[in-house]
Formats: sequence, C-alpha cells, structure tokens
Amino acid sequence: MDRAPSGGEVSLKTSHSSLAGRLAQLAQLGATEAGIDRRLFSAADARARELFVQWARGSHYAVEQDRAGNVFARRAGRRDGAAVLSGSHLDTVPTGGAYDGAYGAVAALCALEELDAAGITTEHPVEAVAWAGEEGSRFPLGCLGSGAFAGLNDLAAIDALSDEDGVTFAAARAAANGLLAGVPVRDGFPAPAGYVELHIEQGPVLERCGVRLGNVTAIAGQARFEVEVHGEAGHAGTVPMELRRDALGAAAMLVLELEVAALAIGEAVLTVGRLVVFPNQTNVIPGRVALRVDARSVDEARLTALRTAVEECSARVAAARGVRIETVLIEERRPVAMEPRLRTAVAAAIAELGERAIDLPSGAGHDAMCVAAVAPVAMIFVPSAGGRSHVGNEYTAPEDLQLGVAALTRSIAAIDRLLSKDR
Ligand code: HGY
Ligand code: MN
Ligand code: MN
Repeated sequence: MDRAPSGGEVSLKTSHSSLAGRLAQLAQLGATEAGIDRRLFSAADARARELFVQWARGSHYAVEQDRAGNVFARRAGRRDGAAVLSGSHLDTVPTGGAYDGAYGAVAALCALEELDAAGITTEHPVEAVAWAGEEGSRFPLGCLGSGAFAGLNDLAAIDALSDEDGVTFAAARAAANGLLAGVPVRDGFPAPAGYVELHIEQGPVLERCGVRLGNVTAIAGQARFEVEVHGEAGHAGTVPMELRRDALGAAAMLVLELEVAALAIGEAVLTVGRLVVFPNQTNVIPGRVALRVDARSVDEARLTALRTAVEECSARVAAARGVRIETVLIEERRPVAMEPRLRTAVAAAIAELGERAIDLPSGAGHDAMCVAAVAPVAMIFVPSAGGRSHVGNEYTAPEDLQLGVAALTRSIAAIDRLLSKDR
C-alpha cells in the first residue's frame, strides 16, 4: 500500500482512471493532419476549457475564470484564502501534440480527485488551473494568461494585442469562443500560496538517463524579437546581381550569423522559426522579410549576450548588404529558479513513490516562470519519447503519465503542509 503523504492511514493511488480518456478527448480538439491546432479563444480552445469546467464540476469543485481567460477549479481546504495552485495550459502551437500543456492541466484535476479519493484534507484550498494562451500562437505574447495573472503583463496592453487577422484579444475574449458562458468571472488575480506544474520534458534528458521523473531546477529565460529586413523589390530577370538589395539574401545571412553567435555564446539556443517573404513571388526580388527570433538561456548573462548578438548581427548584415534592418524586442522573460523548499518537497514526494528523479533545467518556457513572480513554484517533468514536442507525434508512455499524476498529488499535499508552517 502506498504510504500516505500525511502519515495518516489514508493511501494515495498511483493511477487515475480518467487521465487517458480526458487527454484523448482534448487531443481531438483542433486535430489536423499536421498535429493539434488549438489556439487561444478558437472554437477548439473554448471546447477544451468547457471540458475542463465540466470535469471539475463533475467532481464538485467550484469553477471560476478570470479576465485573461484562465480557468480555476477550487477544492476547499481547512482554511480559506490563498490556494496552492497546480496546472498548465490548454492551448497548443499550430502543429502541437496531445501532452504539451494539456497533460499538466488535466493532471492537476486528477490530483485533486486523488486527494478526494484518499480522504486527504489540505490546509490550503487547492486549485487546478488551465492557463490561457501560454504558447503565444494566436496573440504575439507567450504565457499570456499567467503573465496577466502574475501582474507581469498589463491586461489593458493584452487587450490591444492583435492576431494575424487583426482581431484584438479584447474582441476575441468577448466573442463566442472567449470567456465561457455560465462560469463566474473573478475580479483581479489573487496571488497563490504556492504553485507546482507537471509537464512533459519536451527534451531527451530523462529518456537518455532512463529516469521517469524530473525535478526542475530552473526555467530558461527568453527574448523574442520581431525583425524586419527592408531591401528593394525588383524584376528577377533584369536587375544585375551587384545592384540588388535582396531582403531575403540579407535575412538568410542574418539567420546564419545568429546561429554562429549562439554557438559561440554557448549554453544558449536561438531559433528563427518564422520567416515571411514579401512579395513571395518567384520572379520578384524580395523587397521585405519579416522574421521572429526566439533566444533562450538559463543563464542571465548569456541571455543578455544573445540579445546583444541580435542587435550587432543585424547592424553588421544591414551594412554589408545595403538593407535596413529593424529589430523590436517583443517579449522578454528572465530565467527563473524553482523555489528550493518546494523542490525539496517534490523530491520527498517522489521518494515516497520509490522512484528516482533527476534535477534538470527546462529549456522550454512554462507558466511557472510567470507564477514565480507572485509565489514559490516547482515543476515536475515526465519523459518525452525521443525528446519530441511541438510536433504532432509528441508522446509520453501512459505509465509515465500516471506516475506523474501520483508524484504531483503527493507534491501538492507536501507543499500544502510545508506552506502551512509558514502561516
Ligand atoms: O516556447 C515554449 O518554450 C513554450 O512551449 N511556450
Ligand atoms: Mn509548448
Ligand atoms: Mn507547455
């Protein structure tokens, strides 16, 4: 029998019957040939939040949403007040998988239900949360919901963000797929007592180490840039090569120079995952290119060096190619260390399961990096098959998904006890 975290005679199960079913239901929402496309305030995203509410109400948790689109399912504790939160996001990248985000949101609900099944009463209320718009797939801001919740992003500024069709966040929130009908809207963003997020690793480390659980040490900081390369469009057949100001040729040079710079900085990653050519015609010299740079490091100094590299490489390429290059920093998230006492609680909870865990940083960004601005946070990883994520064939073995829920449930109970001592 599993030893209960509270030392009482209750026992916590190590598997939850509806985890797989819920994930399978969510995976249908936004399913395409190329993966799952469930962008914030799309019909698929609205349906996913509705299911989250339906499952929560099925277990008699009080449900609320806030003006950023985050959804909360609250399990009462002995006391009222600041809750221990756990959750993740329901939105996906346009070619996403079935586990990035959805797993942590569903697992948080399952953990609340496991606490019920074990008859465990926590001191704090515990809330499962589905964060809105973590991926930044529709509006140009990642961790949109958790950033607003943590006060890192002003809701008025978020309201003015537009998607590629010119629809603002405010308009999308007010439309049919925005805030959910019949769910009370809470005012403000009450700071939680603590937060723990369960997520797939999205990298190869756990699998390569043959370990099934990760106790995250820190989350890499990110700097996202919008870059515009302005050259001169022209006839592909008549403009001599030496007279051209080809925006795509310059952009290509910039991408390669940035790659070299990131390699030289080390322990850093830089990606140009989005590049749009104008006018994008076979027989027209590209006059303009719009691209986005995603630069990350767990180390603050290296993140600064990446930011400097974007500016310096852009200036150098602009001079060499006779083009104008504009760079705008559109998002910056500093590296965030997980809270040591909560990490110790997570480690103890995992040890109770008789499982080994390794400490590792997260190269991927998560809502936890925002919540850390208002509460102590911890993260737990389960392995990603082949380290794959942000792709349709993202996969984690069912037994690892179940183990993650067991570790999360125990961690929530342990963190609740730990933070109760602070009160
Ligand atoms: O980009 C990220 O790291 C996260 O998946 N939004
Ligand atoms: Mn993601
Ligand atoms: Mn994620």
